[in-house]
Amino acid sequence: MITLPLHPDFIPFNRPYLVGPELDYIQQAVVAGKLSGNGEFTRRCQHFFEQHYGIHKALLTNSGTDALEMAALLLDIQPGDEIIIPSYTFTSTANAFVLRGARIVFVDSHPDHPNLDFAQLEPLITPRTRAIVPVYYGGQPPAELPRLLALAERYNLWVVEDAAQAIEARYEGRPLGTFGHLAAFSFHETKNLSAGEGGLLAINDPRLAARAEIIWEKGTNRAAFARGELTPD
Ligand SMILES: Cc1ncc(COP(=O)(O)O)c(C=O)c1O
Repeated sequence: MITLPLHPDFIPFNRPYLVGPELDYIQQAVVAGKLSGNGEFTRRCQHFFEQHYGIHKALLTNSGTDALEMAALLLDIQPGDEIIIPSYTFTSTANAFVLRGARIVFVDSHPDHPNLDFAQLEPLITPRTRAIVPVYYGGQPPAELPRLLALAERYNLWVVEDAAQAIEARYEGRPLGTFGHLAAFSFHETKNLSAGEGGLLAINDPRLAARAEIIWEKGTNRAAFARGELTPD
């Protein structure tokens, strides 16, 4: 077990959650000489998320921010597209889409809690709206999540769950991060599961899986090649 030194006068905002074999796993990766992504530990981790949470395809990223930025690329967000996000969230929720030239439309908090006020959502939808991004601050989904999903379906909008803080959180028993077409998780040191810095893009819509993998591999089909799926012409 790893014990982290703490200053006696210091009240920590968080303590990284460590379970024991971390240093052993790092040593295994170092000894194997495979320190970049998409090695054995990436494969095992992604497989765990797919099996344990029922995610169609899980891709580890360098951060939750990266996962959100990948989502914006994957949905081909263009300048002038509108993305609806809660006004109470972390900067990355908006920045990921702003980087693609999108216009952010904020939906205000519910009067009684900081989550988005579902009653204000529908009037914000315009012909330029492309996606709604529910955020699960502190692992809390909006109570009206099924109605939000139905609304998105009615207007043919993508749903990207910002599940950065929602690992192991559920809505009526079903894991958050499995409701939207896409979902972003964070494994930042402050999160319940931590990789120091890290994240995961959950691709729940199978139509997006192949392109997601190409974006993940920086515009190449390296993952398919590594699986032996490519044959020479
Ligand atoms: C709601 C929300 N979205 C996105 C992020 C970004 O995650 P990361 O720090 O892994 O980039 C965070 C991080 O705190 C967050 O709280």
